[in-house]
Amino acid sequence: MSSSLDLKQDAAVQTFDVDAVRAQFPILSREVDGKPLVYLDNAATTQKPQCVIDALVDYYTTCNSNVHRGAHQLADEATTRFEGARDQVADFINAATRNEVIWTGGTTESINIVANGLAQMLKPTDEVVVTQMEHHANIVTWQQACKRSGASLKVAPINDAGELDVAAFEALMNANTRFVAMPQVSNALGTINPLEQLIPMAKAVGAWVLIDGAQGIAHGPVDVQALDCDFYAFSGHKLFGPTGIGVLWGREELLAEWPVWQTGGEMISEVTYEDAKWNHLPYRLEAGTPNIAGVIGLGEAIRWFSSLDMEGVKAHEAALMARATELAEAFEGLTIIGRAKNKTGVLSFVMEEGHPADIGFLLDRQGIAIRTGHHCAEPLMGRLGVPGTARASFSIYNTLEEVDALFEGLKKVKMMLA
Ligand SMILES: Cc1ncc(COP(=O)(O)O)c(C=O)c1O
Repeated sequence: MSSSLDLKQDAAVQTFDVDAVRAQFPILSREVDGKPLVYLDNAATTQKPQCVIDALVDYYTTCNSNVHRGAHQLADEATTRFEGARDQVADFINAATRNEVIWTGGTTESINIVANGLAQMLKPTDEVVVTQMEHHANIVTWQQACKRSGASLKVAPINDAGELDVAAFEALMNANTRFVAMPQVSNALGTINPLEQLIPMAKAVGAWVLIDGAQGIAHGPVDVQALDCDFYAFSGHKLFGPTGIGVLWGREELLAEWPVWQTGGEMISEVTYEDAKWNHLPYRLEAGTPNIAGVIGLGEAIRWFSSLDMEGVKAHEAALMARATELAEAFEGLTIIGRAKNKTGVLSFVMEEGHPADIGFLLDRQGIAIRTGHHCAEPLMGRLGVPGTARASFSIYNTLEEVDALFEGLKKVKMMLA
């Protein structure tokens, strides 16, 4: 018998028109080696809808100009679009003010800005906590900050299902815990972390918290004020936007004092040969000419994504994952890596017959794009006892037929490798 939740989800799937969504992504109609492209590498990067591509072309075609400093029409138009995108991001993540939205090159750069600043404040008795499921961007940064300052890096463990051990995480929190950095969603396993439980634990000991939102941002609305974190980082390219643009959100009072990481134009208010004064937020952390087209493209991606029915998006993604999990469980010789109860659209797996790299190669010959390897999470692979995995990751434009195609493809791979 269906529960009321199932019925609600079914209704949402029915109202979500995946064909209409797909039709907006020109790349999805291309072929690979004469076969229709089945793009299942969305955790690495998402494809771009036509409106985002058009926004980039339109900026370069009609108002290419540097922002802020220009005393002419083109500069005004470019600045309006550029700063308009900042307002869109602020609304999208519910920032308290637009000053809290800093443009960066992506999640990696956002985390580096915070970690470099933190390294200047850490004392040898301080502790920084990360989790066992981090992407390298959220380990190496803190590891290096700790090495530079003499502070210690603590790693909160996961269980064999790939879920954070919440009790062990809480046990790590103490008066020396200065900073906690953790992912909203694991890129390698799809695990969704219970941030509403974890962030208060870190706050209770007075730690600052950074959430790596690289994989979380494209799976539903984010409210940084409700989360009550101090920093949130994400990349445009995982949210249907361009590469090379991302966001660092931080609490205004922290960003206003955070050590500047790059110096030069735009981030200053006054310069003499002897000294310089820093600009106000958000510009004090944005030195030099920014990625103007990228910002405008990201603004358009957010406008587009926000126009979708979020309940429908979530239900569609859940349906894709349910089908993929069901088929994976029935597939002889395949083991799912990462069995968290609360997961997004990531199916990581290994197969008895072959190395993940061979699986990826043989699927590619059939037009099916997945990712293989350690997924920039080498320590996590070590913890799970696998050298790497094959990873299919789903997005809103994928169909149930594409999930089926993946498993038809895997059957052929199995035969070829047997
Ligand atoms: C969880 C996570 N964090 C950080 C990153 C780094 O993002 P970027 O390469 O866009 O800076 C990624 C990219 O895959 C990721 O999945």
